[in-house]
Amino acid sequence: MKIFEEKKFSVGELKGLSRKSVEEHVKLYGGYVKHSNLILQKIKELSEDSEKNAYALSEVQRRFGFEYNGMRNHEVYFESLSGGATSLTEESILKSVIESEWGSFDGWLAHFKTIAMTRGVGWAMLYWDRKDGRLLNAWIDEQHLGQLQDCTLILGLDMWEHSFVFDYQPSGKKQYIEDFFVNLNWSKIEENLKSAK
Ligand SMILES: [Fe+2]
Repeated sequence: MKIFEEKKFSVGELKGLSRKSVEEHVKLYGGYVKHSNLILQKIKELSEDSEKNAYALSEVQRRFGFEYNGMRNHEVYFESLSGGATSLTEESILKSVIESEWGSFDGWLAHFKTIAMTRGVGWAMLYWDRKDGRLLNAWIDEQHLGQLQDCTLILGLDMWEHSFVFDYQPSGKKQYIEDFFVNLNWSKIEENLKSAK
């Protein structure tokens, strides 16, 4: 059976987020990879007698989206914090697409930060909509609830409390969002857009 490989990330010193916090968070990511593989294995085993295992089979099948999307979301998140912070250049394709969708980069950024402040745990997302060739902002509750079909994740900001409370406390959510954009390697996001198009 093919298995999903746990990726390694080169996250260096970050503003606001400690090394310990990032290490613990990467371990959570590892759990998503492990459970994505485990579920596929369990489905294979249970399918050997699908009638007898019908209930168990449907329960593990139901969990797959949670684990798989958790794995992929975290890969985009940690990759975007890897390699050191870089800015969007004036020639950036992503910048011009953002400007054509939202009028200005700052207008988009303000909107995205508002989404990230949504109450509850979840993700603030920027997607490339392959059907209509445009960018979309979205809030995703848990990773399996609300992902946009046929859209590629370009930028994902983890707003589950495990991603920031160790360093910021629950009341520091807003500062975590601000620091995320200080720490962001925009060249990775640019690459994500280029490969999605
Ligand atoms: Fe997370």
